[in-house]
Amino acid sequence: MKIYAETKRLILRALLATDAPGMFEMDSDPEVHLYLGNKPVKSIAQSEADIEFIHTQYRENGIGRWAVIEKETGNFVGWSGLKLIKETHNNHSNYYDLGYRFSKRYWGKGYATETAIAARDYGFNILQLNEIIGIADVNNLGSIHVLEKTGLKRISVFDYQGIKHHWMRIEKQSAIIRL
Ligand SMILES: CC(C)(COP(=O)(O)OP(=O)(O)OC[C@H]1O[C@@H](n2cnc3c(N)ncnc32)[C@H](O)[C@@H]1OP(=O)(O)O)[C@@H](O)C(=O)NCCC(=O)NCCS
Repeated sequence: MKIYAETKRLILRALLATDAPGMFEMDSDPEVHLYLGNKPVKSIAQSEADIEFIHTQYRENGIGRWAVIEKETGNFVGWSGLKLIKETHNNHSNYYDLGYRFSKRYWGKGYATETAIAARDYGFNILQLNEIIGIADVNNLGSIHVLEKTGLKRISVFDYQGIKHHWMRIEKQSAIIRL
């Protein structure tokens, strides 16, 4: 089992097939999907397929979202980290997107910020990226705040699947200056 990063309270490791029940708890919750297209998953088989899909990304791209595990309990919290986006959004393609998604019972503890900072540092220090992008529904104030606390700045507002989203970015240089 590969561990990619560790924070004070959390372990960031490769997603495992055994994470499917935790993924299902998270992704079957309509509140979790409020700003994600409002299509919560309906079966654990879908969560198993989602994990398989992320494994393909690990193999093909060398990166994909990581499982977030609470050190104190060993519980699966959700996922966080970087994903290579090959499709075109807001006139950009082949960029690294920073994202996170947790089961509701873990919200409000600062976990998203903790994992986003670890993923940002992994992207700049290990993957040697020059920039990291974040995209959030303009109404997803919590997520926008997490991206800002991680150092990303609002660059523009664009239409993503018919909904206004912020396009946010941090460059390696500004991340170094912040440290
Ligand atoms: C977005 C999400 C990951 C945040 O996780 P979290 O662990 O609760 O986030 P954190 O505790 O690290 O930080 C959230 C920050 O936003 C603030 N916040 C939360 N909701 C807010 C709101 N409605 N308006 C303004 N600020 C808000 C919190 O106060 C906190 O800021 P603070 O630390 O300065 O007090 C979680 O809510 C989630 O999984 N949502 C569903 C999936 C999702 O939307 N993912 C993002 C897609 S872009």
